[in-house]
Amino acid sequence: MPLAQAAEQGGANGLTMINTLTGLSIDLKTRRPALANVTGGLSGPAIKPLALRMIHQVRQVSSLPIIGVGGIESAEDVLEFMMAGANAVQIGAASFHDPLACPKIAADLPIVMDRYGIKKLTDLWEVRF
Ligand SMILES: Cc1cc2nc3c(=O)[nH]c(=O)nc-3n(C[C@H](O)[C@H](O)[C@H](O)COP(=O)(O)O)c2cc1C
Repeated sequence: MPLAQAAEQGGANGLTMINTLTGLSIDLKTRRPALANVTGGLSGPAIKPLALRMIHQVRQVSSLPIIGVGGIESAEDVLEFMMAGANAVQIGAASFHDPLACPKIAADLPIVMDRYGIKKLTDLWEVRF
């Protein structure tokens, strides 16, 4: 939260949240880290709950537009991010295992919105909890 507030006070027009979180993977055969750098950036579904929590927290203290990112793989995930406080979303890791992830999620979105009675995505900008 202090970083988001500092960015806002420094004149940021918006925030992108979150980046990767630092992880560690160990190769049992070599008993060494899988990555030469020992630790590395963890992305994908494992970080989604953390991203949602951080976006939710920052939304309590900032009205800047937030691009939500971190583990989004489905239209349902997009809705969760927007309910947490994101104004738009970014999709990273999912595009590595399926290069068509973005267009598939965009095509699914209206169907999933219908399922949950959501008429406009921008209505979710008003969700607060
Ligand atoms: C291969 C790869 C490269 C990335 N490069 C950058 C980068 O150069 N700058 C940056 O801010 N974030 C970078 N990221 C972080 C992503 O923008 C994103 O914040 C993060 O991967 C979480 O989203 P995701 O789970 O949808 O991938 C990179 C992520 C991956 C997987």
